[in-house]
Amino acid sequence: MRFLGVLVGVLLVGGLTGLYIWMTLNDVLEGRAGVKQLLAALAAIGAGVFAAGVHLPSPAGRIDPKTVRQTPPFDRPRVRGVAPGEYEVVLIARAWAFEPNEIRVPRGSIVRFRVASADVIHGFLIENTNVNVMVIPGQIAEVTARFERPGEYVFLCHEYCGFGHHQMFGKVIVE
Ligand code: CUA
Repeated sequence: MRFLGVLVGVLLVGGLTGLYIWMTLNDVLEGRAGVKQLLAALAAIGAGVFAAGVHLPSPAGRIDPKTVRQTPPFDRPRVRGVAPGEYEVVLIARAWAFEPNEIRVPRGSIVRFRVASADVIHGFLIENTNVNVMVIPGQIAEVTARFERPGEYVFLCHEYCGFGHHQMFGKVIVE
């Protein structure tokens, strides 16, 4: 869904430009102060969203959060080999845990994560990798990482999801 990202970008830039013109006109006509700061703040937020690499989720499919546990492949959250050196992890995110929360793969593996929420919005971030996606109810989030170095890679929920948010984590163990 690159298209969605581009669309949002165009709308954001278009909106900001329109806002800028409108505010500048108002500014000129009425001599109002403080508009520049507001505009700068809006621009900073927009730039920040893109610069920080906040990934818009690329839904790899749709799924009803209420029936996640009955819907293949999420009826069996697990790690499975799909080819030599390649793994697929089917992961459920729910308040407040990941299932499974411990994933083992050999070093050098390419791992495709498919993550679905069983309730609210969660996040899925793996430290020391480029993995950082939102897990939105109704969508399957898909992201791939390669694990060259052995060790433990902690993954965690980075979208506030309620009381137990901070205990929502797990690890990838690369052997
Ligand atoms: Cu799930 Cu925060």
